[in-house]
Amino acid sequence: MATDAGTEIPRFPAGFLWGVSTSAHQIEGAADEREPSVWDAFTAGPGRIKDGSTAAVACDHYHRHREDVALLADLGVNAYRFSVSWPRVRSAHGLDFYDRLVDDLCAAGVRPVPTLFHWDLPVDLDWLDRDTAARFAEYVSLVAGRLGDRVSRWITLNEPAEHTLLGHALGVHAPGRRLLFDALPAAHHQLLAHGLAVQALRAAGAADIGIANSHGPTWAASEEEADVEAAGFYDLLLNGLFADPLLLGRYPEGIGELMPGDVEADLKVIAEPLDWYGVNYYAPTRVGAPQGAEIEFGGVSMPAELPFSVREIEGREVTDFGWPVVPEGLTELLTGFRDRYGDRLPPIVITENGCSYPGVDDQERIAYLDGHVRALHRALEAGVDVRGYFVWSLLDNFEWAEGYARRFGLVHVDFDTLERTPKASYRWFRELLRAQAATA
Ligand code: BGC
Repeated sequence: MATDAGTEIPRFPAGFLWGVSTSAHQIEGAADEREPSVWDAFTAGPGRIKDGSTAAVACDHYHRHREDVALLADLGVNAYRFSVSWPRVRSAHGLDFYDRLVDDLCAAGVRPVPTLFHWDLPVDLDWLDRDTAARFAEYVSLVAGRLGDRVSRWITLNEPAEHTLLGHALGVHAPGRRLLFDALPAAHHQLLAHGLAVQALRAAGAADIGIANSHGPTWAASEEEADVEAAGFYDLLLNGLFADPLLLGRYPEGIGELMPGDVEADLKVIAEPLDWYGVNYYAPTRVGAPQGAEIEFGGVSMPAELPFSVREIEGREVTDFGWPVVPEGLTELLTGFRDRYGDRLPPIVITENGCSYPGVDDQERIAYLDGHVRALHRALEAGVDVRGYFVWSLLDNFEWAEGYARRFGLVHVDFDTLERTPKASYRWFRELLRAQAATA
């Protein structure tokens, strides 16, 4: 892959957040020490997880978090994004675990940045029910009351777009529903939950609140009208549907009327001002007119009745997940956001960026991250207010429907012995952080 690797990475501003991200269900294990989530139920179904695995043990981070905090300290990140498991918080002593984790992070000089929901909904709850949003705000108040004396920066939700699309529309993630456009209420209720959580966090004294939304540029397969139209629609589903309500207080045209309840009143809650906006970026998507057939793309089968079809981005290196490597897509995305949202756009933090490759001498991952950090700097130079960058992920982990087959970690995990081995990319990132700190 062509990179500028070898030349020095430009300096980011002083105070820039450099971190890594994880999520509870993907690393914690200790499933018998918490209530079940929709992911436990989904995983138990036949053929759902490609390698037949479960997250019952995962990286056993629940019992090994001290070792993982030591890895963070040695890496030199100044922030760590993890998620709090709602099913664990509901269980006896569940909050004690996050209490210890936060204490250990603070002692190691690493700023804790918890995400309050990363897809592991308690199994008795359902995002199709409006009431789940209110339950979420209660849970958030509880967590903020316990951790808020040491945690200042919070993330409400992780990627409601993917959770809706993969979990409720296409059925390849928990809770495994294939509702297509009837999944939209799940999106609305998550957005409402986000707004109520922002209110709950502010009531608990928090002043540094964001969300982690997945976004990427949509490229039309051709200039033909049908392709451009289909790409526009896909862009609206991935980007506009989740960013417009938060940043502009409205849904894209034609969407609001598909949502349940008093949408206008809900939008006022959903648009509670954010202190920063988190973007998870992996790759752009190339989209064209429907092809009239079920298409398999990136491990997901897309039904023929969708009004668009996802196409391959040709001429690009792909990760072992088959995702194209397109660093400049990050610059394009961020400058596009700045142009679309203007003054309404709060400072940006990249809350996830990373790639799946096997092995511990992971030169491809180094090239991927190197390219994306430079692309981020170009967005900064173009005037986008970027305040942080988190690599997905610290550890190889339970990659949802892919099981343990896809490895995103800077640290290799042997899932038989649970031994952690830092990869070449871990050392590369540590050097980058040292160089940045030296000139901060
Ligand atoms: C999710 C992570 C996931 C990663 C790689 C993001 O969509 O937030 O949980 O592991 O992508 O697929």
